Amino acid sequence: MLEIINDTVNYIKTHIKNEPQVGIILGTGLGGLVNEIDIEISLPYSDIPNFPVSTVEGHSGKLIFGKLGGKNVVAMQGRFHYYEGYEMSQLVFPVRVMKYLGIKTLFVSNASGGVNPDFEIGDLMIINDHICLVPNPLIGKNEPEFGPRFPDMSDAYDKGLIAKAKTLAEQYGIKVQEGVYTATTGPTFETPAEYNYFRVIGSDTVGMSTVPEVIVARQMGIPCFAMSIITDLGVPGKIVEVTHEEVQKVASKAEVKMTKIFAGMIEQL
Ligand code: HPA
Repeated sequence: MLEIINDTVNYIKTHIKNEPQVGIILGTGLGGLVNEIDIEISLPYSDIPNFPVSTVEGHSGKLIFGKLGGKNVVAMQGRFHYYEGYEMSQLVFPVRVMKYLGIKTLFVSNASGGVNPDFEIGDLMIINDHICLVPNPLIGKNEPEFGPRFPDMSDAYDKGLIAKAKTLAEQYGIKVQEGVYTATTGPTFETPAEYNYFRVIGSDTVGMSTVPEVIVARQMGIPCFAMSIITDLGVPGKIVEVTHEEVQKVASKAEVKMTKIFAGMIEQL
């Protein structure tokens, strides 16, 4: 595994001038943050050795290197989802690569369904904890160099970064919620009974991503910050038909606010 990662890292290093300090993973409808990056180079996933290739037509995916908030960043425009059929080890491979490229902090965004009755469509939620209902990405042989066999998850989302995000949101006049994100496999959206189940077990939102990447980053000691955009509600009385198009539409509308917070936080790192 280490050899494969080194292979990929060496290829990337021949194309970039500056080692990235910050990694960013952009969720559904949230690729617009890339427009704020002063781009040095964009590498299509299909050109990067050993990188998984997106199964979604027209969404080839790119690894973008450049400057944001005065920092060197690497952003994944297009992420990999378990429902696409990847092995977990493939899905989290880019996070391992970002670590070996030198990132010190990981930012993650996603779209999700709110199950907290206080939430509204278009709200931003700072993720302060998660429930992993997808296969754990660390199942299988452990490479001791990555980190412990049994990683602690009591501090999966960095408290200092959460505090910074809340301060910035207040300064910018942006409303933010805070809560627990539960990762499910998808690709179906939930039935009303499933939304209720997610609420009962302690979730505020439910989505199909983020948790595998955060687990792997935490195993390698990378502090994580993640934010979710509530694109639909799984709350009794408010459940309507959900479509991928609607999720994308709501996410792209709310992403300006999220981008502002991410950029402000990166500047202050
Ligand atoms: N459920 C699961 N994933 C999602 C949802 C949802 O309601 N909305 C956006 N991603």
